[in-house]
Amino acid sequence: MMTTQWPKVQLRELTLHDTEDRYQWCLDKEVTEHLNMPGKYPPFSREETQSWIEMCMNKTNGYEQKAIITEEGKHIGWIDLKNIDRLNKHAELGIAIGDKRYWGRGYGLAAMHEMLQWGFEELELNKIWLRVEVDNEKAIKSYRKMGYVEEGILRQDRWRNGEFVDRLRMSIIREEFFNEENGSSQI
Ligand SMILES: CC(C)(COP(=O)(O)OP(=O)(O)OC[C@H]1O[C@@H](n2cnc3c(N)ncnc32)[C@H](O)[C@@H]1OP(=O)(O)O)[C@@H](O)C(=O)NCCC(=O)NCCS
Repeated sequence: MMTTQWPKVQLRELTLHDTEDRYQWCLDKEVTEHLNMPGKYPPFSREETQSWIEMCMNKTNGYEQKAIITEEGKHIGWIDLKNIDRLNKHAELGIAIGDKRYWGRGYGLAAMHEMLQWGFEELELNKIWLRVEVDNEKAIKSYRKMGYVEEGILRQDRWRNGEFVDRLRMSIIREEFFNEENGSSQI
């Protein structure tokens, strides 16, 4: 991980002002194609988007969801930890850069790095895992770059546009994350 090359991002708590961006991003089929959302289009109304954000803000849905903000202050996506298992110290990560102009420029990696650090340090997790559809090559490449390793295939794990799709389960362990961190600062 050569973290120094990544663009700087900040993760901040969601606010109601995020609703319109989120609503617009969710209208974009390219953005939502691989997200675990109902196939209905548009997936959410503005009202549903706002009530989702309210649930995240009030912490009533089990999600620790944050807004991804660039150095220039632009809101470009969201990232979350959910299925937080405090007993076994693991949680599931989800991410979307909603503004496609920011794809493939290192913003996903930068945001993931911030979230992993927060999850390992603040939530004292030992493992952060995720599920990714096997044909979401861009995302898988990015997760491998981040240091995620494959745990196995979840067969027919997502019902998408009338067919079942396999998902890959990947994870990164606290020790791997911090070892990489220390190693990379020398590069
Ligand atoms: C998957 C997703 C989060 C990845 O985020 P991203 O910002 O596009 O991807 P990355 O941060 O990995 O970008 C790395 C790419 O940018 C390039 N890059 C350019 N400048 C860079 C920099 N300064 N630092 C690092 N990478 C840089 C890298 O070379 C790499 O390109 P490559 O894959 O061709 O080698 C994003 O594409 C997305 O939101 N997709 C739709 C929703 C989705 O599928 N979410 C995941 C569901 S499991």
